[in-house]
Amino acid sequence: MIVLGLETSCDETAVALVKEGQILTNKIYSQEIHKRFGGVVPEIASREHTERILEMTREVLEEKELAAEDIGGIAVTYGPGLLCSLLIGLSFAKGLSYSLEIPFVGVNHLEAHIYSPFVSGEEFSTPFLALLVSGGHTSIVKVNGFRDYEVLGSTLDDACGESFDKVSKLIGLGYPGGPPIERLAREGNDKAFDFPVPDPTGLDFSYSGLKTSVLYAYRKLSQAEKVYRIADIAASFQRVAIESLILKLRRAIKSTGIKKVTISGGVSANKILRKRLEKLDIEWVAPELQFTVDNGAMVGYLGNKLLEEGICSDFSLKANPRLFL
Ligand code: KG4
Ligand code: ZN
Repeated sequence: MIVLGLETSCDETAVALVKEGQILTNKIYSQEIHKRFGGVVPEIASREHTERILEMTREVLEEKELAAEDIGGIAVTYGPGLLCSLLIGLSFAKGLSYSLEIPFVGVNHLEAHIYSPFVSGEEFSTPFLALLVSGGHTSIVKVNGFRDYEVLGSTLDDACGESFDKVSKLIGLGYPGGPPIERLAREGNDKAFDFPVPDPTGLDFSYSGLKTSVLYAYRKLSQAEKVYRIADIAASFQRVAIESLILKLRRAIKSTGIKKVTISGGVSANKILRKRLEKLDIEWVAPELQFTVDNGAMVGYLGNKLLEEGICSDFSLKANPRLFL
């Protein structure tokens, strides 16, 4: 069966075609317009989705020389995310499903991220630990079986990616913050600033204190220092942000005895995070870079599995901005 995967939960309009678990094509349109506002403007995001989604669906079909009638099912993100953005993808999926008389299935965006490392490789057998690190979420999830999840820890305030975005905005690097901070950090001394590693009890995360420490340190700098020490700030912040992920992950590995780990979400593209995992005595897997950011392939991949098991949604399905695992 060929499955159309649709993702519009935030500011990426993403469309993919998946055939029996294999990605045929994966197109992502990252809405650059939000850069000038330093963050996502929900109304603009949904307008951009509306303008792009049909055209992108046509493009992926044309690229594979397929017709709409060749699609056997549709997978679409229905939460969590921005309500007006989710509604565009979900309404489009329902319309196509109705007119083509094919099933559609609503996919949980977080679940799709968890499965994203397997999109281009072999799946881990369960149980395994999933470190989900994106702009909206930071969690360690114990995956006991297919769709059987135990959330071991989550952020108490800001998400890890969100802290990259906020620090980036503070030091004038723009949105999204992860890639420019990672680039600039290569030129800096990551021990120059001794920001404390956030460690709320157990397996929970906290990133708002780290952001505030960076803010205070930055404010103390002279105008000249704000220029020549900016790479040190980026490197020191990144070291501590990643250190907190590793600290909690090691704790989760120790308490569960599970040594198989996946990482996923936008922050899983970070090379320092990947280097740190290399040093742990574990088996780990990360998504290909194109599947770290929000993408239709991970939605189509999981949707393909669900549809093959006869799981589909009906037209009463509502977008759920606060959906969790
Ligand atoms: O998964 P994603 O595309 O969207 C959400 O579901 O939130 O993640 C986007 C987040 C942003 O906060 C962005 O700054 C962060 O992922 N990010 C990174 C990197 N690339 C993207 N954070 C750290 N290092 C990166 N290389
Ligand atoms: Zn995401």
